[in-house]
Amino acid sequence: MSKAVIAIHGGAGALSRGRLNPDAEQKYRQALSDVVSQGQKMLAQGASALDAVTEAVRLLEECPLFNAGIGSVYTRAGTHELDACVMDGATRKVGAVAGVSHIRNPVLAARKVLENSPHVLLIADGAEAFAEAQGLKRVDPACFSTPERYQQWQEARAGQQVWLDNDARAPLSEKNKFGTVGAVALDSAGNLAAATSTGGMTNKLPGRVGDSPLPGAGCYASNSSVAVSCTGTGEVFIRTLAAYDVAALVEYRQLSLQQAAQQVIMKKISDLGGSGGLIAVDRKGNVALPFNSEGMYRGVGFLGAVPQIAIYSGEDN
Ligand code: GLY
Repeated sequence: MSKAVIAIHGGAGALSRGRLNPDAEQKYRQALSDVVSQGQKMLAQGASALDAVTEAVRLLEECPLFNAGIGSVYTRAGTHELDACVMDGATRKVGAVAGVSHIRNPVLAARKVLENSPHVLLIADGAEAFAEAQGLKRVDPACFSTPERYQQWQEARAGQQVWLDNDARAPLSEKNKFGTVGAVALDSAGNLAAATSTGGMTNKLPGRVGDSPLPGAGCYASNSSVAVSCTGTGEVFIRTLAAYDVAALVEYRQLSLQQAAQQVIMKKISDLGGSGGLIAVDRKGNVALPFNSEGMYRGVGFLGAVPQIAIYSGEDN
């Protein structure tokens, strides 16, 4: 019997204690706890890891607190371009979409690509046409907008900045904790899965694609190693193939999950000036959640246990 578990993240960034007001902090903790609880419930009922991570990320996309789905950041053109990926560790099938603006839940479109197409990654109009043909409703991109994200965009434009989802160089205010979301899980049949979804970075160039929809960069799962979902400066996670690098260190160098995940974030990502973190789980139910930023919204739920939610560095989970 496997040690079924789900872990989620809601982005990493300049999140030091005291910067979030208590009400906001409580909202984040509650939202993370609700998603972990739902994942635990599904896994306890025998759901696959693939279904659990898809649903966890869909719920995070629905939550305006996080930069994915509703609450996605703005591009330089004032639009929303969303990316998502989901990968099944049992089959190593993967589906992804990038640069979509009319799909409410990009992770569901990614799942359709995985299940019902011969492809791995569909982009923009083609991805949207495919999703519609698969029964996903076309939505007005205005549904992704929130006043908070609009304000962040105005500030980024005024400063001519491009804020990565977790950029430590961004002004250190509560407003800038806007991150990618993700989930990894091990189910009771011993299968692994990972999913990642994002609005990208505030004021990004239209057409820019980050690591989140790229298998091996921001999302990866294989039953022969680990499941990983990343959050951070997408370009560096792409250049290091961060998610796959964790898997390769475990599979080929027999590092522990913790050692592999730490090495990728603290050495490879940091050496290239990248900021962020990742969540990872292996087939024994070990979980790693390293980050090199001040904090990372995160949660872990083993079956039958209370969800462990944390934001700041030094908090247990
Ligand atoms: N890590 C998400 C992005 O850079 O788009």
